[in-house]
Amino acid sequence: ELGPYDHYMQKEIHEQPRATADTLEGVIDAGVVPALFGSDAATVFAEVDSVLILASGTSYYAGLVGRQWLESLAGIPCNVELGHEYRYRDSIPNPRQLVVTISQSGETLDTMEALKRAKALGHAHTLSICNVQESALPRASRLVFYTRAGAEIGVASTKAFTTQLCALFILALTLAKQRGRLAADAEAGHLEALRQLPGSVQHALNLEPQIKVWAEQFADKDHALFLGRGLHYPIALEGALKLKEISYIHAEAYPAGELKHGPLALVDDKMPVVVIAPNDSLLEKVKSNMQEVRARGGQLYVFADLDSHFSATDAVHVIRTPRHAGLLSPIIHAIPVQLLAYHAALRKGTDVDKPRNLAKSVTVE
Ligand code: M6R
Repeated sequence: ELGPYDHYMQKEIHEQPRATADTLEGVIDAGVVPALFGSDAATVFAEVDSVLILASGTSYYAGLVGRQWLESLAGIPCNVELGHEYRYRDSIPNPRQLVVTISQSGETLDTMEALKRAKALGHAHTLSICNVQESALPRASRLVFYTRAGAEIGVASTKAFTTQLCALFILALTLAKQRGRLAADAEAGHLEALRQLPGSVQHALNLEPQIKVWAEQFADKDHALFLGRGLHYPIALEGALKLKEISYIHAEAYPAGELKHGPLALVDDKMPVVVIAPNDSLLEKVKSNMQEVRARGGQLYVFADLDSHFSATDAVHVIRTPRHAGLLSPIIHAIPVQLLAYHAALRKGTDVDKPRNLAKSVTVE
């Protein structure tokens, strides 16, 4: 079943060109249409005025990227909450809000209980973005979008994450169109970018030999810091989660602008700092955050795309991801942080597919 791979996580990382292509197939064939989310999606989408995303772990990080797409493309206000926080606090229900749960397994208790709570508060517009057909969350939701990642066995979520991002991008485009914010030429441009996405994912996978060299340098570290801004802050969070989950290296992620508000105190010449720094509108800001790290002797490991300009020096290690992918860039940058965690774990000899203390599907509180 593993074919040429040593671990499910490795196989699942490498399946991402196919998984993203399968998940995008509907929109590429049919264009941006509400029916991708279920037969009464057009009715529901016409009634909603905001979005609330509920999820846990990696799926929550997908939601953090999704919020930015929903607000910038569709102009619709969006909140993202961890299910276990939402369910126990007093929130202000809005019956016109679309409640979106995101889950690979569809069985995560924290997310399921959050959905039940939302419904009890009067939310009727519910959408499940899920990888497992007919699991609890899609069964309890009015609308469904199935990611087509295929079975994900490794405890560390990989292809589920990138396909969730594809689903959220399609949702943002659909709500944008429904709200009159997606001109025909813009739609065509986004669809073309989506067509090219699986190929760009493959290019990112081809960076594996370089990332392996970095991972060898990480394996004897006790701590690592991950930085990103804007669309790439959730990718920093995801990189830190992957690294701690399977290599047991303590990793923290921060939006790079937060450095001097505290975490900079941790930086010395023993601290590897991974920076997600593609050529987006925040690149110059990220570069000045990188200077703050260098000035304290921090070891910078930078994922930059072909359009961001850096010079590699001893203290700045740079790996170039493909040409800047615009709004889809977080999907591309998920790949190298997954590979970094995988190879660091391999080097440490941990049980990559079944890390200690963790279960694939968290069905208890
Ligand atoms: O099945 P779900 O997407 O609902 O699972 C949510 C989290 O438990 C999951 O993403 C977890 O954080 C992963 N082990 C991360 O790699």
